[in-house]
Amino acid sequence: MIYSEKVLDHFQNPRNVGEIPDADGVGTVGNAKCGDIMQMFIKVGDGEVIEDVKFKTFGCGAAIATSSMATELIKGKRIEEALALTNEAVVEALEGLPPVKIHCSVLAEEAVKAAVEDYRKKQAQQNG
Ligand code: FES
Repeated sequence: MIYSEKVLDHFQNPRNVGEIPDADGVGTVGNAKCGDIMQMFIKVGDGEVIEDVKFKTFGCGAAIATSSMATELIKGKRIEEALALTNEAVVEALEGLPPVKIHCSVLAEEAVKAAVEDYRKKQAQQNG
């Protein structure tokens, strides 16, 4: 089996799937090569804590598993901690990915960063 049990688990039972209609930040990223797309929604509360996070992934199994794991890793964390999340950390939490699937975890890291960037942009607009 080339996939770890953790990967299969998150692929078969992805956590935090869906969208947050009144999200504070939304990030959409894609990989031009494989055509996979990931969308991440975050709800940010007091102290810049990520109270809720959801994702939608139109992509391969590893993309679904990595985005699912990424949501679990940033939920309840502060924005700063979410920004520090690396694709390596996601892969490690999933107990590894085959080399050809590493780019899927990069997409998950980018989706988190894009959602945070969107949140920051909205904050800046609100604060004039
Ligand atoms: Fe491209 Fe998985 S094959 S994200």
